[in-house]
Amino acid sequence: MTELKPIKEGKVREIYDLGDSLVIVATDRISCYDVILKNVISKKGTVLTQMSKFWFNMTKDILPNHMITTDVNEMPEFFRQPKFTGNSMQCKKLEMLPIECIVRGYITGSGWASYQDNGTVCGIKLPEGLKESDKLPEPIYTPSTKADLGDHDENISYEKSVEILKDIYGDKGEEYAAKLRDYTIALYKKCADYALTKGIIIADTKFEFGLDEDGNVVLGDEMLTPDSSRFWPADGYEAGHSQPSFDKQFARDWLTENKGKHDWELPEDVAQKTIDIYLEGYEKLTGEKL
Ligand SMILES: Nc1ncnc2c1ncn2[C@@H]1O[C@H](COP(=O)(O)OP(=O)(O)O)[C@@H](O)[C@H]1O
Ligand SMILES: [Mg+2]
Repeated sequence: MTELKPIKEGKVREIYDLGDSLVIVATDRISCYDVILKNVISKKGTVLTQMSKFWFNMTKDILPNHMITTDVNEMPEFFRQPKFTGNSMQCKKLEMLPIECIVRGYITGSGWASYQDNGTVCGIKLPEGLKESDKLPEPIYTPSTKADLGDHDENISYEKSVEILKDIYGDKGEEYAAKLRDYTIALYKKCADYALTKGIIIADTKFEFGLDEDGNVVLGDEMLTPDSSRFWPADGYEAGHSQPSFDKQFARDWLTENKGKHDWELPEDVAQKTIDIYLEGYEKLTGEKL
């Protein structure tokens, strides 16, 4: 068996390069306030990978995605180990387009901050009188550029995304920019409508797209996981204040309450509760148990 080394180890995910494809592994690490906690949230990686798989399957009629398989028996022998089972996805390698494709159905986070400041988000004028966490009349596309490590991503207008892609792809840039916008909205609408029937609000999310060898736009990265999205419980949703986040709120609250006393390690019961929340979210959305 050939030992493989990841080409990239992020806070939560690890990536292996197989030439034409990648294996993206979601680990059981959890980061809160940008710190990796000492706890392992067992099955978290599997929940994230299986969620992406679920959405990729649900939306492949909208556009193709990069998923090849999540079955380690179809991957190189190295991946046939328990630590890769369930949490790994082999993906077609793409030339990633340098735009983070964000869509917001509700106003919160940096969108809310921008709206309070000047009534717009990424150059889009929104109706007056919106409250924090309000549902928007229509979902809006609010792209950003991927910042270098340490910087915050920068929100940009749609026109700026056209410019960026034209600089790289010439005349094709305009077509790519329009596709990213239209696919992003279509994916969000389909999945948010579905999630609502399962009691979950997808407030906003981020997609990443790339080009395959024929120049087709293909959906990449992770899809609609709690790490790339804001999920809120529909039960108890109320505009006018921030909403509890579905996944990490419990861990975050504990860390805040115990500020200065903890060493970035959750007590066993808090860690267990966090695992339960991830599993519950997965079961609610997919109707399946892991
Ligand atoms: N199919 C793909 N082909 C090539 N790169 C991909 C593909 N899917 C995702 N990526 C890239 O893999 C990387 C995943 O890294 P990630 O752990 O999310 O850290 P970060 O987003 O901070 O770079 C991202 O740069 C993403 O754009
Ligand atoms: Mg990423």
